[in-house]
Amino acid sequence: MTTAAKLTLDDVAVWFGGVHAVDGVSLVIEPGEIVGLIGPNGSGKTTLLDAISGQRRPTRGTVTLDDEAMTGLLPEARAKRGMVRSFQDCRLYPELTVEETLLVSEDARRRVGLLSTTLHAPWARRSERAKRAAVGEVIEAFGLERFRHHRTQELSTGTRRVVDLAAIVLAEPRLLLLDEPTAGIAQREAEAFAPLLRNIHEVTGATIVLVEHDVPLVFSLASQVIVMETGRVASAGTPDVVRADPAAVAAYLGASPEALARSGRLSSAD
Ligand SMILES: Nc1ncnc2c1ncn2[C@@H]1O[C@H](COP(=O)(O)OP(=O)(O)O)[C@@H](O)[C@H]1O
Ligand SMILES: [Mg+2]
Repeated sequence: MTTAAKLTLDDVAVWFGGVHAVDGVSLVIEPGEIVGLIGPNGSGKTTLLDAISGQRRPTRGTVTLDDEAMTGLLPEARAKRGMVRSFQDCRLYPELTVEETLLVSEDARRRVGLLSTTLHAPWARRSERAKRAAVGEVIEAFGLERFRHHRTQELSTGTRRVVDLAAIVLAEPRLLLLDEPTAGIAQREAEAFAPLLRNIHEVTGATIVLVEHDVPLVFSLASQVIVMETGRVASAGTPDVVRADPAAVAAYLGASPEALARSGRLSSAD
């Protein structure tokens, strides 16, 4: 387990011409916290993750990891410091088996994690056997044993997401940025995500920022919930505080009354 990172955002804004996708977000996320980021479509969640991971240069404001300003650092440099990002549409190599996919991820981590000078030194590389052992452990931990030799294109979307998460764990994140890990997967599979994410949190100890449209999932996992609306923070705090905040309800519950009911905001009598 590596040490979790602290993330500080100060007045981060990302504008696309006249569209203020993110418009002055400030927050502090303590090491090891799970923070849920929710809000209606187009409220700026993905763009905010882009600004954190370096995919997007903010129009203004700063992103700080631990005590280091990330300004000007490319995504690769941020990855080297332990920032790991999953994408809304998880892209895996369709032709590779689960095991091969994870071995490739292991390699990629090495490439990212080592300085280029040591990269070419064979003694600095992990032995093939050690790599296979690490991959084997992850396959077992994620219950992927029976899919080990399946090509990823043959898997259900839910199982592909699990493979994606397994690859993430191999990257040993200090700060994990997850963009809608349950999007497009069956409810039954989505339900398996809470224990899975808890597991990942336990195993990696990482700080996690979870963007998720499944509001009950977020409320059950996060120690802090942030509600975004048109690029700004509409509400933030513990799940209990946000649940009771009318501003939060107005913002995120635009999405779905079912989500509202399941989040516990409404009792059946409401
Ligand atoms: N590359 C882009 N160019 C122009 N506008 C964009 C771009 N990416 C996102 N936007 C706009 O920024 C706003 C926030 O989008 P996004 O961050 O994807 O929201 P969310 O992830 O919360 O659904 C939306 O209005 C969206 O249309
Ligand atoms: Mg998004």
